Amino acid sequence: MASDKKYNRPDLKIPVSLGVIMDGNGRWAKKRLLPRSAGHRAGGEALKELCRNCGNYGIKYVTVYAFSTENWSRPQDEIDNLMKLFVEFFGKYDKELEKEGIRVRFTGDIGGMPDDIRKICKEAEENSVNRDRMQLIVALNYGGRREIVNAARKIAGKLKNGEITEEDITEQMISDNMYLPDVPDPDLIIRPSGEMRISNFLLWECAYSELWVSDCLWPDFGFDELTSAIEAYTKRDRRFGGLSAEDKK
Ligand code: IPE
Ligand code: IPE
Ligand code: MG
Repeated sequence: MASDKKYNRPDLKIPVSLGVIMDGNGRWAKKRLLPRSAGHRAGGEALKELCRNCGNYGIKYVTVYAFSTENWSRPQDEIDNLMKLFVEFFGKYDKELEKEGIRVRFTGDIGGMPDDIRKICKEAEENSVNRDRMQLIVALNYGGRREIVNAARKIAGKLKNGEITEEDITEQMISDNMYLPDVPDPDLIIRPSGEMRISNFLLWECAYSELWVSDCLWPDFGFDELTSAIEAYTKRDRRFGGLSAEDKK
């Protein structure tokens, strides 16, 4: 519940836009001698909890990395299982997302996803378009490099047909040609599971994101981990290449 006291933390700086690399499902399952599919299912539950917690903390945009352009290199049965889970998640849990006032959007090369997934994505987006408490942005068949290539092609097209000149190409124009230009760059990116890498997530957008990693595996990621990440974020000095407020005096 939003009225829950645990979310009332005036001492915290709440990020507007959060990115989460939902990693560690396989290791979580392995530790329990379960198949990887059980880890992915448990990861779906953790995502539901993340949505509730982020909504209650007042985070406005949450981008979650669900399937990368490189994840197609996994065994076909794991891919099939993940696709089944995506369909189930957005079919079955829409009521819960609705209750939380969560608008669902997708980022990535959605055109490269199987037909049934594309249909589910479209429906989830259309059904939720009027919800405004929080946006859940699901990165599916997403690759930061592919997103940049896509933007470069769009801009090259405009250059070719004379709509723009070379001098018109600015950082802002590249940002405007990303998949979801209206979504603010992530203030904070969380990577559970102990890996210290970005794995092709939001490469353009992460230029000044604060990074927070934890050894917790994604299915175990709950309120306490999220709170620790926001507490750490609160203490960060975001200088954006400039000086700290105290050094400017
Ligand atoms: C993340 O968990 C889910 C996807 C990449 C789809 P992993 O499946 O990568 O889990 P680990 O890294 O093997 O533990
Ligand atoms: C990143 O996790 C992608 C997602 C969580 C969807 P991976 O497990 O694919 O990343 P690597 O292989 O450890 O870099
Ligand atoms: Mg992984």
